[in-house]
Amino acid sequence: MKSKSKGNHFNLRADAAKVLHQILEEGQSARECLPLAQLPHKEQDKAWLQEMVYGVLRNLPILQFWLRQLLDKPLKNRFKIVEQLIMLGFYQLAFSRVSQHAAVSETVAACQPLNTLAMKGLVNAILRTFLRDEMSQQGTPNKQIASGLPKWLYKKLEAEYKDVFIDLSTNMQLKAPIWLRVNTRKISHAQFAEELKKASIEFTDPIGHPEAFILLKGYDVTSLPGFDSGWFAVQDGAAQLAAHYLKPEQGESILDCCAAPGGKICHIIELEPNISKTVALEIDEKRALKIKENLVRLGHDADIVVGDASMPEKWWDGRLFDRVLLDAPCSATGIIRRHPDIKWLRKAKDIDVLVNLQKQILDAIWPLIKPGGTMLYVTCSILPEENHLQIRDFLSRTDNALIDKTFYNDSVDSPGKQILPGDQQMDGFYYARLLKSPK
Ligand SMILES: C[S@@+](CC[C@H](N)C(=O)[O-])C[C@H]1O[C@@H](n2cnc3c(N)ncnc32)[C@H](O)[C@@H]1O
Repeated sequence: MKSKSKGNHFNLRADAAKVLHQILEEGQSARECLPLAQLPHKEQDKAWLQEMVYGVLRNLPILQFWLRQLLDKPLKNRFKIVEQLIMLGFYQLAFSRVSQHAAVSETVAACQPLNTLAMKGLVNAILRTFLRDEMSQQGTPNKQIASGLPKWLYKKLEAEYKDVFIDLSTNMQLKAPIWLRVNTRKISHAQFAEELKKASIEFTDPIGHPEAFILLKGYDVTSLPGFDSGWFAVQDGAAQLAAHYLKPEQGESILDCCAAPGGKICHIIELEPNISKTVALEIDEKRALKIKENLVRLGHDADIVVGDASMPEKWWDGRLFDRVLLDAPCSATGIIRRHPDIKWLRKAKDIDVLVNLQKQILDAIWPLIKPGGTMLYVTCSILPEENHLQIRDFLSRTDNALIDKTFYNDSVDSPGKQILPGDQQMDGFYYARLLKSPK
């Protein structure tokens, strides 16, 4: 149902509750279900819907704590969605600028489109008690709830990051800024800055990122100058380091073995126009289409191959590569501030599976590199087992692999570079530059 006027904003709340239910109860990712829920709404309402859903996901532990205090028994079956609706009400009252009156009345009214009219009285009573008892002013009951993290991840990160954990978890709860990468094959960084100024777009020019700008407001990027002409791509600052760290050179052959949606491979092509062969490998056929879409919009070309990086015998033509980017499937714990659903979709047991997959891909792809060639191993994770511990193990079992010591204070015990979410406004990423011995 559409939210056409101020009068029926309860539909928007109902849609937010449905998306939350799909993520929290059915395990769908926001990337799948949020765009579908946004489809019938106006631009402004689309943004509001995302803000509400992400806001609840960022603050879920405290919202759940309040819910447990005010609800006698958990709701079940078709009424479970009412729990999400109530938490959405708490979020509006405690964290947003929505007026108290609208937050209560429109949230209660959302019971109708959710077919849970029988719960109207309960939702109303709970939200009014929440306000009357000023529950949002009563402080957070413990550190895990304050961190906004699920228990397993809280324990892991607190143990690993000790002194910097508070700053880290605070940064993980903040909204990430929008970073752009200028497509320097189409327009220079300076010219694009002029275009942004002409369009009254507010931005900064971050140090150490020669192709980047950071937007100072939440603009709709498709309406920025030159979107259709491929003047820029949206890409976080930490992700923009990959192409620079890989250092592609003229005449080389390059493999990106986990390539979709293609952000890093496009940047690599932009930095070195004369690569002899560029292969973008991706296991997921649908996601491989995204690589094509991005290449076409930005005006680039690459060979897209659908295949499994852990089984090169099924797709590799036998010709060795000069450089390989391995942007490995990972926990994505470094990009939680951008995708807060990850906190609730990822489970502790997934980590071992991912670590094993990364290991398999590392071992399968390493033989595809020429003697003297380079691999850049990347994750958007902040967990040591996917990062420096993974690379330490790889180095110890692979005779012809060395860590590039010129790259970043690399040591045998803690190889690579870990960027934490919020460092210079970037997402959390890990990089290790591996060299294959010449013989
Ligand atoms: C971190 S994302 C890559 C992001 C991409 N490099 C970019 O910059 O846009 C990891 C990708 O690896 C893909 N993937 C996962 N397992 C894979 C495998 N065994 N072989 C190839 N691709 C895989 C996932 O579908 C996902 O698209």
